[in-house]
Amino acid sequence: MVRDIIRFGVIGTGGQANSVHIGGIKRCPWAELVALCDTNEVLLQQRAQEHGIPADRCYRDYTQLLARDDVDAVTIGTPNNMHAPIVIAAAKTGKHVMCEKPIARSAAEAQTMLAACRAAGVRHMTAFTYRFVPAVRFATHLVRSGDIGEVRTLRSRRLQDWGLRAIGWRQVKALAGTGEIGDMMAHRLDYTQAMVGPIVRVSGLLRNFIPERFGPDDQMQVQDVDDWASAIVEFSTGAVGVYESSKICWGMGFYASSPDDLDVHGADGTIVYRMQTPHVLRIGRQGGSLEEVPVPEEYLQPVGGVPGPVDGNPLQTFRYNEIFEFVDAVRRERDCIPSLVDGARTQAVVDAIVQSSDERYWVDVATVS
Ligand SMILES: NC(=O)c1ccc[n+]([C@@H]2O[C@H](COP(=O)([O-])OP(=O)(O)OC[C@H]3O[C@@H](n4cnc5c(N)ncnc54)[C@H](O)[C@@H]3O)[C@@H](O)[C@H]2O)c1
Repeated sequence: MVRDIIRFGVIGTGGQANSVHIGGIKRCPWAELVALCDTNEVLLQQRAQEHGIPADRCYRDYTQLLARDDVDAVTIGTPNNMHAPIVIAAAKTGKHVMCEKPIARSAAEAQTMLAACRAAGVRHMTAFTYRFVPAVRFATHLVRSGDIGEVRTLRSRRLQDWGLRAIGWRQVKALAGTGEIGDMMAHRLDYTQAMVGPIVRVSGLLRNFIPERFGPDDQMQVQDVDDWASAIVEFSTGAVGVYESSKICWGMGFYASSPDDLDVHGADGTIVYRMQTPHVLRIGRQGGSLEEVPVPEEYLQPVGGVPGPVDGNPLQTFRYNEIFEFVDAVRRERDCIPSLVDGARTQAVVDAIVQSSDERYWVDVATVS
């Protein structure tokens, strides 16, 4: 049975939830925004006004939103420390959940979330937004279908200039779990595993180069997480990956205007992806040069090829497709891709990289099933 409309509660209404979760819900013909929750009363009122949600459907306490019978599913866009309690509470009330990445502060925490969703029989999704970049989807298809032969090596770079300003909960270990590795590298660890297979062993190095950042009135605020992260990894297939991710590459730009690159080298060719051109791949063969290949139309569409938000800034529109995927999975009662299993697997890789960096040896990645 295909359900009709999925009614949403959005928990945490900050930057990502407002732009992508609510943005996607409002664009999706099978989704309706019913209720909002944020601990920040001023922001909550602002969002309520922006999106026309009456006061009696706005909450500062997520348990009150979860008590509503007219909410089928929730998106969770709070700081990372609140993901686990909210996912577990939501599952217990029978709500389907889409949780932001990194889903947890540790693999153990991620496992408890996954177990709660399985026990409750609800759909669960990790908001690994970059899975939905058309060029990433096309590259995943090409790699999996053997277009460049068996993958030997890959290289991922995410280099940004976040300056010296305070970055709130993201710089606090108790709230974020980790820094750059969970914030940015997690996406890349996820989509490369979707392409190549599970990462089974890692050697990592993390650094915190800026232990204090400038808050309001130039008050210094402690940063106790990594702002630079790197890893060499082995995949179960025998392929090898090299990852670097940084917030402190001065002059390299920020967000969509900074390097976000992937090169994949197989036995029969190379695929090059650059975030700035999300509708194009460059593909090369031995002895030849890289040729531009436009991403076919089907990879620009949301799941199932349904009409969706393909117009507008291509660096933004793909993000809404994660909501389309979540809604489609709930309506058709199928697993979400990516699910919390993928979120937990990437968390296990992150944990292994952190351990490797701390203890200075190679670490096997714990299995998540
Ligand atoms: N998928 C992506 O590409 C992507 C991009 C950015 C952020 N994120 C993730 O999204 C999450 C939020 O990031 P953000 O940049 O939107 O942060 P943010 O600080 O802008 O928003 C977080 C919001 O959560 C609210 N909040 C805090 N505790 C709460 C609670 N107990 N109940 C309800 N609301 C609560 C805060 O008041 C704030 O409004 C993080 O996990 C982050 O890693 C993902």
